[in-house]
Amino acid sequence: MSISQIGRSIAESATLKLNETAAILRSKGEPVIHLGGGEPKSMPPIDAIVTAAQLLNSGEVRYTPADGIPALKKAVIRYTEEFYHRHVEPENVICSGGAKQAIMVALQAILNPQEEVVYPAPYWVSYPEMAKLCGGVGVPVYPEDGSFYPRLKDIEAKVGPYTKAVIINSPNNPTGAMYPESFIAEIVQFCEDRDLYLIMDDIYHRLIFDGRKPINCYKYAKDLSENSKLIVVNGVSKQYAMTGFRLGWAVASRQLIRVMTNIQSHQTSGPSAIVQHAAVGALMGVQAGVESLRQTLENNRNVLISRLQAFEGVKVQRPDGTFYCFADFSAYDKNSARLAQKLLDKVRVLVMPGIEFGLDGHLRISYCGAVKDITEGIERMKWVLDPDAPNELYIGTRKLVRDW
Ligand SMILES: Cc1ncc(COP(=O)(O)O)c(C=O)c1O
Repeated sequence: MSISQIGRSIAESATLKLNETAAILRSKGEPVIHLGGGEPKSMPPIDAIVTAAQLLNSGEVRYTPADGIPALKKAVIRYTEEFYHRHVEPENVICSGGAKQAIMVALQAILNPQEEVVYPAPYWVSYPEMAKLCGGVGVPVYPEDGSFYPRLKDIEAKVGPYTKAVIINSPNNPTGAMYPESFIAEIVQFCEDRDLYLIMDDIYHRLIFDGRKPINCYKYAKDLSENSKLIVVNGVSKQYAMTGFRLGWAVASRQLIRVMTNIQSHQTSGPSAIVQHAAVGALMGVQAGVESLRQTLENNRNVLISRLQAFEGVKVQRPDGTFYCFADFSAYDKNSARLAQKLLDKVRVLVMPGIEFGLDGHLRISYCGAVKDITEGIERMKWVLDPDAPNELYIGTRKLVRDW
């Protein structure tokens, strides 16, 4: 079959595939513990559900403007004022089918074939594939000090004549690292000086721990005119537990938003009207759910870290935010895909292999589920990996006997 070069070059989304595997195993009655997921399990805000239901009941579910309904743009403008202390106009906002689409149309709007987009590694699985989809090239930057905190000099070393954009995701998927404010200041200034686009993927910016506060990148921009190349991306998926709704947005210069809108208008048109109404409900309604989710995640993080710290052979850095931990399991197996498969086969624990995020030897463990799943999942993993573990393990009434 004749398939395009780009089509052939795109890998399946590893995270979505893992969800599928979990669903299939569960449907067969397997005692799966899913520590690989990327979605909070709390309920979406009631305001989101009521607002969406009102529209559905009215039956007036029509096409919307390609860049989003005015009410949602207004809500995004209010959000931008609250969290970024910046006033923007409706022409500076595009609402898309998830932050994923907002990033994708931004890259399609700025990248020419062969141009490069630079991002710190480990990185979100979609960045390299999105660059490829645009005919561009993703360039990961591995901090030389081996930490999860990128340094400007490491990024600078990868920026060349083909570089068009930098993507920063902080707090970060998969590491949970929230980059220091000094780094955000440096990267904003660096991109301005080098005339590069800077995409701030802020999708987890409110899910942060230990008293941290969201960082406002605009604070460090010298140029806040319509010539600014700063693109700030956000959405309702993570903070409002609305992953399946599919709504994100970008804030950028009018000119860029116009081009992104033209692209989106031919791709999907505006996001679903029902979902946009739900997002208005979430953004304008009672906000208590975000804080309650944040607190639950912080507690889950603490439980997971204490269990991993007691896991001999595992090296772990304490996540500052998100609901991911990126732990070093290379003492057990340097091949993270093989290790993740072993954990799935032996004890039905799902985790994401680090190689999918560009760093082998690690596993991404999510703590967005129940505490019981976290503790039991780690116990099962320990049983597989610890040579001194007892020969048998009970999962419910099922008896597992070590055969390796
Ligand atoms: C770093 C990062 N950016 C963007 C997204 C996309 O979010 P959305 O569900 O809004 O498309 C995700 C989702 O996993 C993510 O982890």
